Amino acid sequence: MKNNRRNFLRNAGVFSATAFLSSLAQPAWSRNLESALKNAKGISPEDLATEEDFWYYIQQSFTVSPSLINLNNGGVSPAPKTVQEAMKRYYDYSNEAPSYYMWRILDQGREPLRKNLAKMAGCDSEEIAINRNSSEGLETVIFGLQLKAGDEVVAAKQDYPNVINAYKQRELREGLKIVWVNLELPSEDENYLVQQYVNAFTPKTKVVNVTHIINWNGQILPVKKIAQEAHKRGIEVVVDGAHSFAHFDFKIPDLDADYFAASLHKWLYAPIGTGMLYVRKEKIKGIFPLFAMDNPLKDDIRKFEALGTRPFYIEQAIGKAIEFHEMIGSERKEKRLHYLKNYWMEKVKDIPKVKLNTSLHPKWGCAIGNVGIEGKKPGELDSYLMDKYKIHTVGITWENIVGVRVTPNVYTTTKNLDVLIEGITTFARS
Ligand SMILES: Cc1ncc(COP(=O)(O)O)c(C=O)c1O
Repeated sequence: MKNNRRNFLRNAGVFSATAFLSSLAQPAWSRNLESALKNAKGISPEDLATEEDFWYYIQQSFTVSPSLINLNNGGVSPAPKTVQEAMKRYYDYSNEAPSYYMWRILDQGREPLRKNLAKMAGCDSEEIAINRNSSEGLETVIFGLQLKAGDEVVAAKQDYPNVINAYKQRELREGLKIVWVNLELPSEDENYLVQQYVNAFTPKTKVVNVTHIINWNGQILPVKKIAQEAHKRGIEVVVDGAHSFAHFDFKIPDLDADYFAASLHKWLYAPIGTGMLYVRKEKIKGIFPLFAMDNPLKDDIRKFEALGTRPFYIEQAIGKAIEFHEMIGSERKEKRLHYLKNYWMEKVKDIPKVKLNTSLHPKWGCAIGNVGIEGKKPGELDSYLMDKYKIHTVGITWENIVGVRVTPNVYTTTKNLDVLIEGITTFARS
């Protein structure tokens, strides 16, 4: 901790409520947070990333377990209190008279929500469908693409299993051909990464699947460069943005993707079971929806939402997660997440037998880090951290990526990470 600590509670309580906080009869944590936010104005995102006191007040917005250090936020993130409360409130409304509250009240919130998501994503609201997760978004596209036997799809062995399985199912049933790229990661070599995909393209390639952040080790891929090469050859681009949306600062159109799917329960901190699919406007009519609709080839993004009765109370609470995200700010969040990852990785990188499987450079990684210990299986370190330190991580053995994945979040403190550093150090030396 620095000596010149800033006082984030200066003038606590004298400010008018922000949009985010106005819906609460303000408890102490929320008053303190409001004050900390006000006092953080004018501090650069880089500097704020290192201010533990400020992030302590962010932590108070969550219901963090006191008995466990959760460093598997890559799996799924917890929702802040405001999101949890909204979801429970909407659930209670729904049960007072379900068909009335769900169809006539909560469902009416979908169009404003679509607009808010589109604003965050930097695209037209007519390009955003709201769904349950990335798997649903990606499989909607994968099964909806009009492909025929012999057409080729380029995908990476390091893509997500649900995505791989969806393409494999089409390969099995319809005779598509998947051409695999096998990435050596981590990599900071843009040319190498782009070239792996380009080398796999043939005149028969119709689609390339690119994972924006590889979940196994947090590698960020140069999606735009790959997409530009694909488009030059008339190849469509499907981007798996499960981990990237609301994690670091970008707009979907920057990627030049035709299709992009995200899980909102990961980095947006929306309720578990929320997702989003972006389809470039001119591509909507060419994709068959997964759940059939009248006129399935119509030019309306809502055709991807024909799911029937579902928990609207979950969907509507996404709005509170957007407010929370905007309250922190994309750039501040990105800088803090990257700072936390590098904080622990820098401190273990020179320990004998420790191998970092993630880049420390902000262009190639953000919150997610993966560490391997020579001669040990990932499961051994994962169990050791849980048994001795009550730290929750995840052991990864997938293709050529072998290590323990560690994913802090905005509520993680450097004190938490000091415990992790001690755990990795004692394990590596044992
Ligand atoms: C890269 C990637 N794609 C897709 C998914 C699927 O996300 P969900 O389980 O939310 O559908 C995940 C989940 O971890 C992922 O990491």
